[in-house]
Amino acid sequence: MVIVTGGTGYIGSHTCVELINNGFEVVILDNLSNSHESMLDAIEELSGKRPTFYKVDIDDSDQLAAVFEKIGSKAESVIHFAAKKAVGESVQEPLEYYRNNLDSLINILVEMGRHQIQNLVFSSSCTVYGQPDVCPVTEETPRKEAESPYGNTKSICEDIIRDTSKAQSLNAISLRYFNPIGAHESAKIGELPIGVPNNLVPYVTQTAAGIRKELTIFGDDYVTDDGTCIRDYIHVVDLAKAHLQALRKLEAATSESSYDIFNIGTGKGSSVLDVVKAFETATGVSINYKLGPKREGDITAVYADTTKANTQLNWKAQLGLEESLKSSWNWEQNYRSRNT
Ligand code: NAD
Ligand code: UD1
Repeated sequence: MVIVTGGTGYIGSHTCVELINNGFEVVILDNLSNSHESMLDAIEELSGKRPTFYKVDIDDSDQLAAVFEKIGSKAESVIHFAAKKAVGESVQEPLEYYRNNLDSLINILVEMGRHQIQNLVFSSSCTVYGQPDVCPVTEETPRKEAESPYGNTKSICEDIIRDTSKAQSLNAISLRYFNPIGAHESAKIGELPIGVPNNLVPYVTQTAAGIRKELTIFGDDYVTDDGTCIRDYIHVVDLAKAHLQALRKLEAATSESSYDIFNIGTGKGSSVLDVVKAFETATGVSINYKLGPKREGDITAVYADTTKANTQLNWKAQLGLEESLKSSWNWEQNYRSRNT
């Protein structure tokens, strides 16, 4: 049995589908602060099995302890997705981010220790690299000071896991996600940004759908080929599969304790203009855009060296930028048609 925290969220729901389709029994813990219970219906539809669900605030140690009393002894592994993730909001409400993201992880580790659950996969982020001196980044590339309280929670959580693996029986993997985009091929699950999207791809799809008037490209004089920022956009289904591989590696481990880190990206950097062009090619829909000023806190370029995940997790991204963007568009259209 695998406990999936944040399993009704964007990446969690795609991972639950992959897990169930590969024979894992899944129990989801989520407080639905950024997701909907209806996601359980979609996961059931796509996998043929409804995961057990507990609505619980993971940052509340008493609530979490009560849930682990019921299920803890049956679980072998935890995948910990649950976190607050809005970068701008974290600057406005740092304490809320530190409290939610750090307390949740600490509570999970305490319960894992209590119930002798040894395997943990943690959602980290390429944000820990800041603006790297050299691209692509490997797992050995030094972390830089975080640009935001959100980013800092990821660095601190990585350190908490590393230190805990030295003190209790714990085999853990942090996956450093690059920029997750896209949706399941069924278009039944996908990303649901609340309000005006901050991230590029939801803004692109909402512009294409006519919900936003135009996309503003933040900065065109970066030191890159076309002047716009470069990122590594990874399809969420590829990302979900990386969790399966991480889990398999942990479940096969013979050591008492271990800690490892993997970059999960495609290895390919794409500029903002590349994304706009790839979207137009993949969908045939043109994007109304203008060039605007830089966004504070943005870095010029980051993309992954994925050699370690390729060789040690036996995992490689399969889906390219156009396929990812097409799936985002299909999801946007399907979601709008059901909700308008
Ligand atoms: P999401 O918001 O869609 O999913 C997170 C889920 O966690 C939500 O369902 C939310 O309700 C739940 N949650 C939050 N706090 C909780 C708490 N205290 N108790 C119980 N449930 C709680 O986000 P996502 O995009 O699926 O991200 C999943 C993880 O991956 C997060 O840790 C995020 O920081 C990390 N990550 C995401 C990205 C990205 O671009 N989406 C990139 C790098 C890392
Ligand atoms: C953001 C977060 C990062 C997090 C990541 C994945 C910030 C500063 N960083 O990364 O911590 O790990 O999401 O969730 O928010 N862009 C536009 N116009 C838009 C939106 C974005 O030009 O309307 C550009 C940005 O300048 C950037 C690129 O598109 O160059 C990607 O932006 P975004 O999707 O927000 O992701 P990141 O900033 O890379």
